[in-house]
Amino acid sequence: MTRNHKSIVRRTTVPSSVSAPLSTPLFTAVAYTSDDADALDAQYEGETHGYTYAREGHPNACVLAEKIDWLEGTSGGVLTSSGMGALGAIYLGLLKTGDHIVAGDQLYGRNLRLLTQELPKMGITTTLVDPTDAGQVANAITPATKMILVEAVSNPTLRIADMEGIASISKDKDILLVVDNTFTTPAAYKPLEHGADITMHSVTKLLAGHSDVTLGYAAAKDPALNRAMMDAVVTWGFTPAPFDCWQAERGLHSFQIRFDRAQANAVRLADALAELPQMDAVLYPGRADHPDHNRARAILGDHPGNMISFRLKGGRTEANRFIRAAKHIPFAPTLGDIATTISHSASSSHRALSPKEREALGITEGFFRVSVGVEDANQLISEFAKALEETKS
Ligand SMILES: Cc1ncc(COP(=O)(O)O)c(C=O)c1O
Repeated sequence: MTRNHKSIVRRTTVPSSVSAPLSTPLFTAVAYTSDDADALDAQYEGETHGYTYAREGHPNACVLAEKIDWLEGTSGGVLTSSGMGALGAIYLGLLKTGDHIVAGDQLYGRNLRLLTQELPKMGITTTLVDPTDAGQVANAITPATKMILVEAVSNPTLRIADMEGIASISKDKDILLVVDNTFTTPAAYKPLEHGADITMHSVTKLLAGHSDVTLGYAAAKDPALNRAMMDAVVTWGFTPAPFDCWQAERGLHSFQIRFDRAQANAVRLADALAELPQMDAVLYPGRADHPDHNRARAILGDHPGNMISFRLKGGRTEANRFIRAAKHIPFAPTLGDIATTISHSASSSHRALSPKEREALGITEGFFRVSVGVEDANQLISEFAKALEETKS
């Protein structure tokens, strides 16, 4: 019997078409073929544009990066497999042994850990200061300081950094200013337009918006810094997966609409919560009673954002009662989901601090952070009110 030796194992090219797909195709290929060695050389030398190996870049990352670049008003941003990866690309790509960082003292917990426990192993040290006071930033600078890193709105107490003062210090002293723009998002604040050298995101949060991808982004004004961060991404292996980029691109298309709606809901929810007798304090940058309200208006304008924090009267017992009673508001350690979520800082992001250290930051057992979503505002307000009513019993 003759056998057909034509094998199905033949790599084929994508069938040509005079029309193009409307939505971005998903490119899962790990490697790309080139015409010959000269053509591959030209690609590596940057004389022609073409993909080679997915860790070094792939179409889905490029498409997504360009869209976030557009939101941030820049070009050449790099994507990473998580927000922490973006911070890693910034530190590893732009700093070296002996360098010093001045950073905000209320950053995302893992970033604080990276700064205070991991980077010192490589001889990179950090001084933490209160970023609402630019004087503290100035006093912490040493001849070795190469970077200032802050979140414009701190997590979880929602204090507003003195961005103008800090930007002017960074300019005077020629020190890179990095802003973690995850909480604020480019819809409320564009760091590169306000003196920052680098903006970064946990794209996992509001930008992707559906709690189903983990991604990061960092972009510098200076193309040379972008290239250095990209080198760190490719070399350390922080490249994101094509599927995550594809999924996040889809989420990003509705970002502005989600943000506007969530923010409008947050304005109403913050006011409604402040009226409730179970509240010790409601922290929302858009409210006149917020300690940095004027600065929030100056920096964020009409965009106080979708994040609210509050301190419930009572301790862990009341906190647990509230979480269990709020059946339709997921209790989850994240933010930026399309739906409203609540998180409890003492048992999650700030669990590594002693009760005394938490107390000093105002993070009591009754302290909650709310990431407001796009639900119907009236329904949301009534669900919170009902759940809070049950904390009394
Ligand atoms: C402000 C901020 N920056 C960075 C990160 C880290 O992002 P990821 O979880 O995507 O690594 C987070 C995560 O919650 C965050 O809230």
